[in-house]
Amino acid sequence: MSSDDMKKRAAEAALGYVEDDIIIGVGTGSTVNYFIDALSRIKHRIEGAVPSSEATAQRLRACKIPVLDLNAAGPLPLYVDGADEINCYLQMIKGGGGALTREKIVAAASERFVCIADQSKLVDVLGVFPLPIEVIPMARSYVGRELLKRGGQPVLRDNFITDNGNLILDVYNLVIMEPLKLEAELNNIAGVVTVGLFAQRPADVLLLGTVDGIRTIQG
Ligand code: A5P
Repeated sequence: MSSDDMKKRAAEAALGYVEDDIIIGVGTGSTVNYFIDALSRIKHRIEGAVPSSEATAQRLRACKIPVLDLNAAGPLPLYVDGADEINCYLQMIKGGGGALTREKIVAAASERFVCIADQSKLVDVLGVFPLPIEVIPMARSYVGRELLKRGGQPVLRDNFITDNGNLILDVYNLVIMEPLKLEAELNNIAGVVTVGLFAQRPADVLLLGTVDGIRTIQG
């Protein structure tokens, strides 16, 4: 079974968390794209969706799912999104697709975060996947030096501008033993917009698509 089949499995399983007449927060990435396809089959049952990126907004519109603004929608009962890495505490590295800032905002505004992923995303220790950090362009070099001091190897993501007009530094060589502490510390560097560590607001449920079916891990 391919990783795409496992992603699809996880995406389909997330439909079980969609209650009638709700507004859903929708994340970004290939796994979420399968979720949007599945959601389009039951779109008559929901009020609409708040996207975490322009790419997701486009895909939702293509499926004729109403796209709503977070300010107008208020608190959301459900957020569904993928992850680049996730540990057994449901803390994650996100931002491989560069949408980390809006993902963090929509996740924070949601009551329940359901993470959908294929089995390769579950890890013991976060940090093999380079940690994405969104930075204000004028702070790029300064933030890079601060990351070097902390043992990371920041690499500027080539030809990439976020939906918010900022840059992404992908930070290699971090062994993240204390995700909460590192998230807070990196958030405090001037010029950092968002750190792709989701430890302060982890997922509440992980639906992991595996070769044997769905494995559900509760936070
Ligand atoms: C987007 O910025 C990321 O946080 C995605 O959620 C993450 O990269 C997962 O993507 P895939 O579902 O494509 O693996």
